[in-house]
Amino acid sequence: MQDRLIIFDTTLRDGEQSPGASMTSGEKMRIARQLERMRVDVIEAGFPAASPGDFDAVQSIAKQVKESTICALARANEKDVSLAADAIAPARLGRIHTFIATSPIHMQDKLRMTPEQVVDRTVAAVTQARNSTDDVEFSPEDAGRSDLDFLCRILEAAIDAGATTINIPDTVGYTLPGQFGQLIFDLRQRIPNSDKAVFSAHCHNDLGLAVANSLAAILNGARQVECTINGLGERAGNASLEEIVMAVRTRQDVFECDSNLDTKQIVPISRLVSNITGFSVQPNKAVVGANAFAHEAGIHQDGVIKRRETYEIMRAEDVGWAANRMVLGKHSGRTAFRERLTALGIEFTADEELDAAFARFKDLADKKHEIFDDDLQAIVTDRATEQSNERVRFVKMSIAAETGKAPRAQITLTVDGEEKSAQATGDGVVDAAFKAVEAVTPTESELLLYSVNNITSGTDAQGEVSIRLQQNGRVVNGQGSDTDIVAASVKAYINALNKLQEDHSRQFPQVGNTV
Ligand code: KIV
Ligand code: ZN
Repeated sequence: MQDRLIIFDTTLRDGEQSPGASMTSGEKMRIARQLERMRVDVIEAGFPAASPGDFDAVQSIAKQVKESTICALARANEKDVSLAADAIAPARLGRIHTFIATSPIHMQDKLRMTPEQVVDRTVAAVTQARNSTDDVEFSPEDAGRSDLDFLCRILEAAIDAGATTINIPDTVGYTLPGQFGQLIFDLRQRIPNSDKAVFSAHCHNDLGLAVANSLAAILNGARQVECTINGLGERAGNASLEEIVMAVRTRQDVFECDSNLDTKQIVPISRLVSNITGFSVQPNKAVVGANAFAHEAGIHQDGVIKRRETYEIMRAEDVGWAANRMVLGKHSGRTAFRERLTALGIEFTADEELDAAFARFKDLADKKHEIFDDDLQAIVTDRATEQSNERVRFVKMSIAAETGKAPRAQITLTVDGEEKSAQATGDGVVDAAFKAVEAVTPTESELLLYSVNNITSGTDAQGEVSIRLQQNGRVVNGQGSDTDIVAASVKAYINALNKLQEDHSRQFPQVGNTV
């Protein structure tokens, strides 16, 4: 029988460590639900010791996501492991992932611990974790630069203490595929109790080799891979989930295992993560880039028309590139609207949510003749960005632009229920609108990112805007969509402002990467 390849998604933990990719608890929940729908085996939902916000996010995902295992990260110390255990306690399937660095440079210069102390700490943390759950993962951080004999020793001790998954991180993306594959092979051969644990790969992309290294690990017996949607992650990112999953699925002639993933969910979740984080996907990115299945050259088009397989090794529809169908119009009713959303995998838990999304749909149908699947996705994303506790709300705006004159914007917002207006001029209509918003709600925040994507084609297409703001070291992302780019921009700006207003007084002290 063919082996199962366990897909461990760490978008919400390692992915979120990417500067600027911070997500709200609600956004994490939306991604977690999509990961569950895609049948991801393990969702690393966060690092509970990092902040009360992280703890709460892991705990609420553990309460609500029942089909995937919910994993919490913990450094190898008593407090971290105990917080991780509490956070995953409500999960139907819960895992604690504890780690400590094992490379000479990390042990000496970061941890300032001897190898013996590191082994003792590992055994204590794994033992403590096993007292709360049967599913415990251990990672020797910076394994890629660790001594093989020491790795064998510490991993044997971790398995003896009860670790059921041994994850091998190439923390700094240093190894080469042949070397990383050999490392997995050697560890499995040399550790006497290696058959008692699943071996896993966790690769970073500093040399652009994260996916290649992960595949080399699978070829050498790893049966779990840790990855993120769109390869999101610190520095050059983590191994990209979609590339690993599709490489294994497409090359079943080579791999002796496969994942259980519903690959049709790949493109929708890629868009969701990109939209929430403001990290756009490059057009030529494998599998999820806009051009991944586009054939421009005449010779290729001719071949594909005659027989698709001449130039396509995967089917676009298998990864969720649905034909962007014109689905609904102005006269479509609530039932048709709900049915189409259900077909897209979007469900509402409360009737009010459906009502609000339907009202938005009607509003859009008044402005835009044809409504496509992607428009429906945007309507729902827009709805999800609105929180009932938002302090700042958009009311109306007017824009004046004339050749030779500075554009002017007048904006009306409600702030804590009170209506306020301001006007401003700027270097373009969006700049004028942002200055008017800032005049109503002065935050002195810095704009780090402004990006616009058209959701569908045509001049009446909705624009999807992502904004990143920084205030006193805090970074937040905001999203908005509308057929009017300036309105979409203002909505995104307000969405980010509301996130800046959220209460962040409950903070743990800064978490360092030490024990
Ligand atoms: O890259 C890394 O070493 C990690 C560990 C916490 C597994 O993310
Ligand atoms: Zn990592």
